[in-house]
Amino acid sequence: MKILVTGGAGYIGSVVVEQLIGTGESVVVFDNLSQGHSAAVHPSAVLIKGDLSDRAAIDGALNEHRPDAVMHFASRTLVGESMEKPFLYLGNNVRTGLNLLESMVEHGVKRVILSSTANLFDRPERMPIDESERIIPGSPYGESKFILERMLYWLDRIYGVRFACLRYFNAAGATATRGEDHDPELHLIPLVLQVALGKPEKVTIFGEDYPTRDGTCVRDYIHVTDLAQAHILALGALDRGSRLYNLGNGEGFTVKEVIDTAREVTGRAIRAEIGPRRAGDPAVLVAGSDKIRKELGWVPQFPHVREIIESAWRWHKANPGGYLN
Ligand SMILES: NC(=O)c1ccc[n+]([C@@H]2O[C@H](COP(=O)([O-])OP(=O)(O)OC[C@H]3O[C@@H](n4cnc5c(N)ncnc54)[C@H](O)[C@@H]3O)[C@@H](O)[C@H]2O)c1
Repeated sequence: MKILVTGGAGYIGSVVVEQLIGTGESVVVFDNLSQGHSAAVHPSAVLIKGDLSDRAAIDGALNEHRPDAVMHFASRTLVGESMEKPFLYLGNNVRTGLNLLESMVEHGVKRVILSSTANLFDRPERMPIDESERIIPGSPYGESKFILERMLYWLDRIYGVRFACLRYFNAAGATATRGEDHDPELHLIPLVLQVALGKPEKVTIFGEDYPTRDGTCVRDYIHVTDLAQAHILALGALDRGSRLYNLGNGEGFTVKEVIDTAREVTGRAIRAEIGPRRAGDPAVLVAGSDKIRKELGWVPQFPHVREIIESAWRWHKANPGGYLN
C-alpha cells in the first residue's frame, strides 16, 4: 500500500511512518514542519513540505502520489491554547481537515485514519472510559476532533469513505531513533526528563488535592509504538467497515508516580513543585480499550509506565537538544 501521512514529521506520526516502512508500506509525509522535524522523517519516506490550509498543495500531493489510504495526524494539539484561541482550533483544525477530506473524495481516496483524543470525554460518567461514554468535548481542541469524526461519519454514508477514529489518551515513550520534541513541551514525561537533564530546573505539579491515591491527577500513558501498532491493525481492518476506538493501557498513574518513576529510571533528583490546579483538568482519565483488543487483537507491548519512561529516557539522553542535535 501507499499511505499519505499528514503530520508525519511530528512525534506520533514519525513513529507510525517508521513502523509502516518496517512492514513494507510505501509512505508519503505531508507536513508544514510547524512542530515537526525533517530529521524525524524516515529516510525511505517522501517528505512534502506543505500546509493543509493550502488546498492546491494537498491536491498536488494526492494527484502525484495516488495513495491507497491517508493517516491524518497534522493538527494543532494544545488543549490550553484552544481555550485561549478557539479559532485556531474550531477554525484551522476543522478547515485543514475539511480540505484534506474534500481532496481525498475528489481523488477517490477512501481510507483514512484520524488521530482523535480523550478530550472528547469531559466529566465522564464511567471509568475506564469506553466507546459507549457520552461525548462532551472538553475544549475547542476536542470539539475540532469531534467535528472531524462527524464529517467522517457522513462521508462514509454518502461516499463510502472507510475511516477509523483512534482516540488516544496520553502518548509517550520513544523508539531508538524517534522521540518527543515539541516547542513548547507541555507533556509530563518529556518535561520531567528535560528536568532530569538540567533544563528546565523544575516541573510543576498542577494540584495535589484531587480525590486520587496521592492527590495528583491520574492519566493513562500509552507507548507510542503500541499506538503505531493500533494504526496498522486499524488500517488492515478498514475494508471490513469504519470504526471508532479508545486507546490507552487501561491503567492509570498519578503525576507523582510518574515523577518518582522517572527519578528511579534516571537516577537523578527531579525537582518538582506544587502549583494550583489547571482549569479543566479532570482528576482521572483512563481508557477502556477492550473493543480494539477484541476486534483487532491489539495487545500493548509496553503497558507499564516504567518501560515507557525508560524508552523515552534513552532517547532524551541520546538527543538532549531534541532533533536539533
Ligand atoms: N501526543 C498525544 O498524547 C496525543 C493525544 C491525543 C491525540 N493526539 C493527536 O495526535 C496527533 C499527533 O500528535 P503529536 O503529539 O504527534 O503532535 P505533533 O505536533 O508532534 O505532530 C503534528 C504534526 O503536524 C504538523 N502540522 C500541524 N499543522 C499542520 C498543517 N496545517 N499542515 C501540515 N502539517 C501540519 C506539525 O508540523 C507536526 O509535525 C494530533 O492530531 C493530536 O491532536 C495526540
